[in-house]
Amino acid sequence: MAKIIAMANQKGGVGKTTSSINLAACLAVAEKKTLLLDLDPQGNASVGVGLDKSLFEEANIYHALIGAKPIKECIYKTELPHFDIVPSDNHLVGAEIELVSELARESKLKAALAPIEAEYDYILIDCPPSLGLLTLNAFNASHRFLVPMQTEYYAMEGLAQLLNTVRLIRNSINPELSMEGILLTMFDSRTSLHKQVSSEIRKHFGDKVFEAVIPRNVKLSESPSFGKPIILYDIESKGSEAYLALAKEIILKERTEQGSDLPPELPKVPVEILQGASEQPIINSEL
Ligand SMILES: Nc1ncnc2c1ncn2[C@@H]1O[C@H](COP(=O)(O)OP(=O)(O)OP(=O)(O)O)[C@@H](O)[C@H]1O
Ligand SMILES: [Mg+2]
Repeated sequence: MAKIIAMANQKGGVGKTTSSINLAACLAVAEKKTLLLDLDPQGNASVGVGLDKSLFEEANIYHALIGAKPIKECIYKTELPHFDIVPSDNHLVGAEIELVSELARESKLKAALAPIEAEYDYILIDCPPSLGLLTLNAFNASHRFLVPMQTEYYAMEGLAQLLNTVRLIRNSINPELSMEGILLTMFDSRTSLHKQVSSEIRKHFGDKVFEAVIPRNVKLSESPSFGKPIILYDIESKGSEAYLALAKEIILKERTEQGSDLPPELPKVPVEILQGASEQPIINSEL
């Protein structure tokens, strides 16, 4: 059965799509069968792996979500073996509205994915920058969530809001949802603020923060316009190195977890982060 991971952060431009594409590609080169599911109407991941929008107009995640097509008909191959994608385009904006009046509207993605779960090792869901119905569907369908995060001053506040949302989801529709990890992105080791914030995040979240850190790397921002993941665009870049290290960490972590009967450790949310993020701060809530 696939491990399903929602790549989520309601903050825009933090590296969700870049991380989804490149982590998926790196898992695929490790011979893990990987599906990238583009759940953002912006469709950046779809174009970023080299798909032509006109190819998937009639069969994409929108059609699978509203039940017009089985998801199998919405899967496309990428340039890399073991790396498939379910693309998205701006029709998906309509799905959010169309689904509002439907029963079990938060379970549409989970139901759509059920027939293909056994065919993959990993399914990564590239979420849009909001905590709306699409992200809710992603959280409901996932085992884990991974938070790409920039090392900026306000990053922790956004994280607190995200964790509060996950907590609500765990208390209602998906009790199993847990954190895969926090991924520091666009990191610049020469900037003292980046170093300060990163050590704050590590202090609070300990081993929930991936050791792999994604540096700010121009090759990573160029590669989508060539329709290629970084490892096909420039394998020797710092960006390639970082995403390969991340994939390795995730694969190794899964092996350790499989060897244990205990559920993965859950992070405690520090009180000071939660204050101000919610009207009723949740003290040391476990996620
Ligand atoms: N490590 C990096 N180094 C340099 N540029 C990067 C890096 N990661 C992402 N970028 C660039 O930053 C911009 C935002 O990245 P990306 O699209 O991955 O973020 P996102 O969280 O998916 O955004 P959105 O919230 O709009 O979906 C893009 O132009 C991308 O190419
Ligand atoms: Mg994106």
